[in-house]
Amino acid sequence: MSDVLIQGGRIITAVDDYVADILIHDGKIEAIGRSLSVESAQTYDATGLFVFPGGVDVHTHMESSQGPAITCDTYETGTISAAFGGTTTIIDFAQQEKGESAKATFDRRLELAEPQIGIDVGFHLILTDVRPEVLSELPDLINQDGVSSFKMFMAYPDILMVDDASIFRTMRTVGTHGGMVNLHAENGAVIQVLIEEALAQGNTSPKYHALTRPRIMEAEATHRAIRLAELAEIPVYIVHLSSEEALQVVVEARDRGIPAFAETCPHYLFLTIEKYDIPGFESAKYVMTPPLREHSCQHALWRGLRFDDLQIVSTDHCPFCLNEQPLGINYSKQLGKNDFSKIPNGAPGVELRLTLLYDGGVRTGKITLNRFVQLVSTAPAKMFGLFPRKGAIAVGSDADIVLFDPNKTHTLSAATHHSRVDYSLFEGREVTGKVEKVFLRGELIVDGDRYLGKSGKGQYLKRSASGAIL
Ligand code: URP
Ligand code: ZN
Ligand code: ZN
Ligand code: ZN
Repeated sequence: MSDVLIQGGRIITAVDDYVADILIHDGKIEAIGRSLSVESAQTYDATGLFVFPGGVDVHTHMESSQGPAITCDTYETGTISAAFGGTTTIIDFAQQEKGESAKATFDRRLELAEPQIGIDVGFHLILTDVRPEVLSELPDLINQDGVSSFKMFMAYPDILMVDDASIFRTMRTVGTHGGMVNLHAENGAVIQVLIEEALAQGNTSPKYHALTRPRIMEAEATHRAIRLAELAEIPVYIVHLSSEEALQVVVEARDRGIPAFAETCPHYLFLTIEKYDIPGFESAKYVMTPPLREHSCQHALWRGLRFDDLQIVSTDHCPFCLNEQPLGINYSKQLGKNDFSKIPNGAPGVELRLTLLYDGGVRTGKITLNRFVQLVSTAPAKMFGLFPRKGAIAVGSDADIVLFDPNKTHTLSAATHHSRVDYSLFEGREVTGKVEKVFLRGELIVDGDRYLGKSGKGQYLKRSASGAIL
């Protein structure tokens, strides 16, 4: 592979902001400086563009089953979509079947993903069946396989939910080996009662998805998760935090010095609960968990992002088509046409994270450019054991680089995105700031509208266990 030289861009990292050239050799950043010149290098002019480290999205669900449903992006299409959005690393999930060993879960997922991925990929392991034999496998997964984070669900009873004892046991085991526990924090048992009540009253429309998942039940589970982690003396990471009340719990814990961390997602920052008032089944587009919240929560979330009570913005990309065709009912929200509780939970977004956060966060003055890079790249890399290989523009780091035009205005639409999903949460939204070129380990994989990457060229990332201290 010949050397690559990116000239004259404005390099923005979590802490820096300066104009310089970047020389890439063998997929790594070899030098950063002014007026670098290498005769044989393939040269790109980045004058007038921002140069960001590649995005790191630590919450995606590709080819992921949810009961009878399966998300409509494969590892191939999902990583292409991510690449167009300036994301060069995702951490996806390997989900344990009941009765399955944790190692088998990981091996099965890696085998499925590896030939397809166009960007680099790591896995969190989702534990659904926490037996003693399974716990005994976790140290090797952390130390040998590079799976250093384990996710459990406090919601979705009978399918994914595990009890507090399982969570606590996992925390103890994982904590001893420097790993991290991620929690979907909602009180699933109580939510189940609310769902049964709603259905018994004949309330079957998508709106009831939101009405049966109250903010205080997210806060309750967040509190429980953090207290369990506190007792187990392990850092804890709350996924897709959506409500003011849950954030308040995280803030309180952090003020006490507890290593509690949390992410939020663009849909909670930019959309509100009124979307469920759209008549008919169209509002099923917004059936994700937790649901969209009231406008006041957005103020709290932005404040949390600004003051580091929230450390990461991930997408929770979990795409199901609105329509049954062309992919079939199992890839579609239509499974819940007559019963909101059967609508597959999740929404797309892996392609829009950088653009939305830049347009709606940086340009509006809610966060700085450096904070933007911290939230979408550096903090996720650090939190999950990938830094400084990922999340940095520094000598020796992987040359995962995004050239971003801060002034280009474009309109978001399902017609132009690269996911297989048939809708966009942000259809018609005009944004300023566009990903122009994306390099993965020095190779140009996105150039404007052209995808130049290749399936299988992404690498599986073994992550270190030393994350969680930002
Ligand atoms: O609605 C969502 N978030 N679906 C994906 C599964 C999960 O809860 O993360
Ligand atoms: Zn979740
Ligand atoms: Zn407001
Ligand atoms: Zn998720």
